[in-house]
Amino acid sequence: MGESEGHRQQAGQGASIAQTTTGSADDHGATGQELSQRQGHGNQQASPLADPGLPVHRPRPTDVDPRAAKRAERQVAGLLTVSSIASIGFVVAYFAIDVHASLLGVGAQNVALGASGGVALFLIGIAAIQWAKKLMYDEEMVEVRHRLSATPEERREAVDILVEGGRESGLARRTLIKLSIAPALGLLVAPVIVLLRDLGTLPGNDLKHTSWTSGMRVVQDITGDRIKAADIQIGSLINVMPADLYPTGPDGTYTGPSAGEIPGGDHIGELETPDVYVRRGEDAAIIVRIEPGVSNVPPQRQGWDVAGIFCYSKICVHMGCPISLYENQTHHLLCPCHQSVYDLADGGKVLFGPATRAIPQLPIMVDSEGYLVAQSDFHEPVGPSFWERNRT
Ligand code: FES
Repeated sequence: MGESEGHRQQAGQGASIAQTTTGSADDHGATGQELSQRQGHGNQQASPLADPGLPVHRPRPTDVDPRAAKRAERQVAGLLTVSSIASIGFVVAYFAIDVHASLLGVGAQNVALGASGGVALFLIGIAAIQWAKKLMYDEEMVEVRHRLSATPEERREAVDILVEGGRESGLARRTLIKLSIAPALGLLVAPVIVLLRDLGTLPGNDLKHTSWTSGMRVVQDITGDRIKAADIQIGSLINVMPADLYPTGPDGTYTGPSAGEIPGGDHIGELETPDVYVRRGEDAAIIVRIEPGVSNVPPQRQGWDVAGIFCYSKICVHMGCPISLYENQTHHLLCPCHQSVYDLADGGKVLFGPATRAIPQLPIMVDSEGYLVAQSDFHEPVGPSFWERNRT
């Protein structure tokens, strides 16, 4: 009994797979049905289950009816023709439609480009599927798996070819070419490096700091109102921002326009500085008040809270989603993007999900009037991690 036959007998239910992968060289080019019959015949007594073999191959209508094949060909050609027209429409729309024109409140050019580009790609996809399913050659073959590694002779032959190629190139004798080819190839990357400059200025230390500073008042997001520690209820969560994002008077109260006074706006009464949206993405934080006696404050964060009022970054450290889904019974903060869960009663440590470090905490205190202010900036970068995060 040959080795491959022994395999079949032991394999039991997996016999048909073993047969397909251990066939002999004679099996090359056999149709699935032929191979299945040959192997099934020799296996009937050995296997507790009959080998079902491969299903009988049924020709498609386009294989046996030339008119059906012609019809399918016309369908594919029609789809490709309409796709071509859509692509031309894309180019025409790009030049013909004013970039500021609007259609139902959205940019008309964007709609036209999206629709024509989408139709062109979609129809090419449909045409390819039709072509493959109805017209491409349809014959089932079984091919025996070969060794993937090369034999020692083949490897030697490959090395010989390389050496011969080097010799034929004459590089060894052409010193000038040899000296100039390395810089020429190496400098090819220079344009790529130069183009990196267009990505903008390097972030420097920006990623490691936010605009929270010692004494910066903690105010409510949206309204800009300052927050009195004594007014915060146990179990509540407040979205907060640094006060300097909002116009405030000398006493720290918000002095910007009210929501109704902002033309076209509904709630933003922030200072209109160019970097305001960047700052909102870094400085956003949440305040929670946790009932006394349940928090486990790590030693290095002692004194960072005000009688159970904790301030944490609102930006998930996984991929930067803003988080404020808070379950006040468990003190869990859930990120809606990929379900990272942080325990705000335990230093913001990660309980579940892809986040790999605790959510950063902002040390806070109260000023002489009892309003919340920051003690300092965050002691670590907020938001998603990056390669140089732990370097100063
Ligand atoms: S961004 Fe929060 S879990 Fe992914």
